[in-house]
Amino acid sequence: MRASKTNQKASILLLTLAACCARVFAAGWAGKTLEELRQIVYSEASTRLVDLGQITDGDGNLERLYMSPAHKQAAHQIQAWMDGIGLHTSLDGVANVRGRLQGKYPEQPAWLMGSHYDTVVDGGFFDGALGVIAAIAAVKALLLEAAMQTGVISPIDARSVAHGQKQLQEAVKAPLDSLLPAPVEIIAFSEEEGLRFQSTFLASQAVTGSLATSGLLDAKDAGGLSLMELLRQEGLAQTPADLSKSSINPEHIAGYVEVHMEQGPVLEAMGKPLGVVTGIAGQSRLSVSMQGIQGHAGTVPMGLRRDPLAGAAEAIQQIEQICNGGPEAAGQTPRGPFAKDTSLVCTVGSMTIWPGSSNVIPGVVNFTIDIRSQDDEVRRNVISTVRQNIDSRCSRRQLQCSVERRNEVQAVPCNADIVEQLAAAAANVQGISSSSAAAGKGMATSPVPRLVSGAGHDAMAMASITKMGMMFVRCAGGISHSSLENVTKEDISTAVAALHDFLRSAVGRIDLTAHQEL
Ligand SMILES: *[C@@H]1O[C@H](CO)[C@@H](O)[C@H](O)[C@H]1NC(C)=O
Ligand SMILES: *[C@@H]1O[C@H](CO)[C@@H](O)[C@H](O)[C@H]1NC(C)=O
Ligand SMILES: [Zn+2]
Repeated sequence: MRASKTNQKASILLLTLAACCARVFAAGWAGKTLEELRQIVYSEASTRLVDLGQITDGDGNLERLYMSPAHKQAAHQIQAWMDGIGLHTSLDGVANVRGRLQGKYPEQPAWLMGSHYDTVVDGGFFDGALGVIAAIAAVKALLLEAAMQTGVISPIDARSVAHGQKQLQEAVKAPLDSLLPAPVEIIAFSEEEGLRFQSTFLASQAVTGSLATSGLLDAKDAGGLSLMELLRQEGLAQTPADLSKSSINPEHIAGYVEVHMEQGPVLEAMGKPLGVVTGIAGQSRLSVSMQGIQGHAGTVPMGLRRDPLAGAAEAIQQIEQICNGGPEAAGQTPRGPFAKDTSLVCTVGSMTIWPGSSNVIPGVVNFTIDIRSQDDEVRRNVISTVRQNIDSRCSRRQLQCSVERRNEVQAVPCNADIVEQLAAAAANVQGISSSSAAAGKGMATSPVPRLVSGAGHDAMAMASITKMGMMFVRCAGGISHSSLENVTKEDISTAVAALHDFLRSAVGRIDLTAHQEL
């Protein structure tokens, strides 16, 4: 039996209204109990992050590369946690762990949430894992709260579920699907860091449907095994066509939301636990080669040298200045042509010097430039300014130089509505009065920071098929991709609470007694 579209619309409206007054609906429950049990569920996330962090291939360090033994064990553990909150779980064609509840109206578009469970070598507990674990905890909180408010769970069982002593479906005397109006799916992406096949986002590309045609299936790992061969060997997919089963039709998605540690120092410096991401920066990678004349360090007079390393040093210092950096810029309002773009960052991270001997004037110096900005036009203008600069420097020093573009990714904006919803959720859980926020012309006055993500994320790939939003969580010292990565327990709970709050209004909640006639 299928409810009519109008009925659905009406009931979803009702649910949204219900979501606004959670406390009023907690009939029969002391509001204090509900809040206490919520906090217990939120705090479960930090314990699980530590547990997941023990699953490693490394000896004393954390390492889970795509399809390694620890990687598979982590998938298994995450699936068990998803099972524990009653999601229908599966491993898809690239080993993404998928957990879904259809909700009462399965034909409604689904809210997706997730992040990745692979790590770099000597990584930390939080990069990727935080988004997966936070989503599981937030959905658990959403379901437990709905069960309590609709009276389909006993007080004793609710407490056992919150403490993780009893699974939700054992305790709830109703199908869990009946507790949500619309479908919700958590995706734990199997691969984001790009270490095994030297290319990022293979997992999210399987979900967006672009993996089979990306050429990535032919990419080989260090042992010469191609991705397609690996998928076959692992029994995940036999042919590229099999992968279409892992993709999601964009029409069936309401949006995608990812919680991620910030991986930078901004929130910590501002003293804020949460920030909302407005977009993911675009990125260009350039390869610069400077060729001079190699020679003896003792016999060639300074005036007769064509030293590419001295030229490179000059060019690199200039790049730093073009991109608003350098010692003069510290603590100052940046000046210069790109000063307005605070998201602009430029990095020379790799250099080779030929022949690289202490008693030889170098013959060739090659280096990379990584340029990122939320504004694609700024990024293109920076590239041409950098090029001109290198050209004029090289002609003055009589060096032969080339600048090649290696990699180019466009900036991806987050969906403006989701940005506002996440900001409102973050404000709510931090006890920032929603009335003052509402009075102050919406969230424009919200003290929740807005950030641009300089790093790529699964959300970037997901943006090609749906509305996307991200929330950043403060981390210690801005450190990531390191065993020193850290996020406090309090901040993890705050992030889960905010995601729960977001889901409560985005997905809504169902009141069984009010909807039995449907
Ligand atoms: C430097 O780059 C040039 C041009 O790409 C290349 O031909 C050369 O082999 C590179 N040299 C070194 C030492 O990496
Ligand atoms: C993170 O910080 C807490 C509190 O200072 C500490 O107990 C914990 O060991 C740290 N975790 C890591 C992975 O460094
Ligand atoms: Zn990550």
